[in-house]
Amino acid sequence: MEKGKVDALLGIVFGDEGKGKVVDVFTPKYDVVARFAGGPNAGHTIIFDGKKFVLRSIPSGIFATDKVNIIGNGCVLAPDLFMAEAKELEAAGYDLKSRLHISKRAHLILPTHRVLDRAYEAAKGKAKVGTTGKGIGPTYSDKAARIGLRVGDILDGFDAKYAALKARHEQILKDLHYTDYDITEEEKTWLEGVEYMRGFQLTDTEIEINRYLKEGKHVLAEGAQGTMLDIDHGTYPFVSSSSTTSGGVCTGLGIGPRDIGEVFGIFKAYSTRVGSGPFPVELFDETGDKIREIGHEYGAVTGRNRRCGWVDLVALKYAIMINGVTQLVMMKSDVLDGFDTIKACVAYKKDGVVMEDMPFETEGCEAVYKELPGWKEDLSHITDEAQFPQAFKDYIRFLETELETPITILSVGPDRAQTIIRKK
Ligand code: GDP
Ligand code: IMO
Ligand code: MG
Repeated sequence: MEKGKVDALLGIVFGDEGKGKVVDVFTPKYDVVARFAGGPNAGHTIIFDGKKFVLRSIPSGIFATDKVNIIGNGCVLAPDLFMAEAKELEAAGYDLKSRLHISKRAHLILPTHRVLDRAYEAAKGKAKVGTTGKGIGPTYSDKAARIGLRVGDILDGFDAKYAALKARHEQILKDLHYTDYDITEEEKTWLEGVEYMRGFQLTDTEIEINRYLKEGKHVLAEGAQGTMLDIDHGTYPFVSSSSTTSGGVCTGLGIGPRDIGEVFGIFKAYSTRVGSGPFPVELFDETGDKIREIGHEYGAVTGRNRRCGWVDLVALKYAIMINGVTQLVMMKSDVLDGFDTIKACVAYKKDGVVMEDMPFETEGCEAVYKELPGWKEDLSHITDEAQFPQAFKDYIRFLETELETPITILSVGPDRAQTIIRKK
């Protein structure tokens, strides 16, 4: 029997590209959907039949009731938030316990990790990362420091392990003079969450996934965040703390690089970023406000305004290279309906020097734009690419030529149904 493959769907810019929607659309073609990185800092929106769900830690394949969903070892999990998310799905009629498997090697986010997240941000003053406050950085730091708690730890001698790590965090907070916090209520719910998690299948998902592949089954790896937020390849230090790229698929699921099949790179027809950090394409004018309004660009997790700008080919080319992207998925093209002209950033400029490759530091870079004609037609009702207005066809061709990668899927609205698979 031919071995199955792991295809990856990766955000290739600053996150919120629409990964949840596309994973949900792709799921019928796969046997297993697996998250390999990140935690409840993610907010993945799925809309179908007039219903809307925002998933944080649970894979977006959960709505197809005959598929296995996996939270892989590369993820971090907050038991209280997981419980809230899972209960909401259970209340909506989705049975999770039979088909959601959690890696024993995934790391646990403690209530004190969230306090540390706030404390470190407060200590940074003006150089704040603008984190989601979910304790992501401190949890991955403890993982790297080899002192973290893992999901498997809740099955044996947990109380003592928890007390020891909590005490360690409390000492750090004391040293930072960050003592004005109270986790009493939060901790109660968190411990309930730990108990609730014990009712799930906590497994060696790495072995399980490799068994599926051997059986010829196909796995879809669902990215979280995006390449420009990757701990190695993003706009460090304004990044998240996990490996969001295709390398992270291997380490975060426990598979070999030769098991990876297609790498789908997902991006929006324009750019957004939440939190701090350099963003050369950011628009501070009414065009930026217009994109935010039409695109509803407000954080799914924190409700923060997303910063908006034109599409950034420097970042996209870099991300395609880093991930080995084989196909592109362009989202939210409908948001650009009605602009007289649209722009694409083709290079950065700093101190008079024009750069087409991603520089070490993007702070202080200005965007160099190419202007293209816009379209006035409403894309959101289009179901066949033959109906696309000429200016939109030209925009697609321009991007494909510049990026040397085909755009095979286009999204023209938030609903599952508003997705166009292009003919090859
Ligand atoms: P993710 O984190 O990558 O899964 O993306 P988010 O869910 O954070 O943000 C994407 C937002 O865009 C959500 O509110 C989606 O419902 C919405 N969305 C997805 N695709 C489209 C599209 O093609 N057009 C429009 N207008 N909205 C979309
Ligand atoms: P999805 O999966 C957009 C950003 C935060 C902050 C930085 C670090 O929905 O695309 P963290 O809490 O991870 O330490 O924050 O990363 N960030 C995201 N931005 N989408 C996300 O996830 C994000 N997850 C983290 O805003 O700038
Ligand atoms: Mg999101």
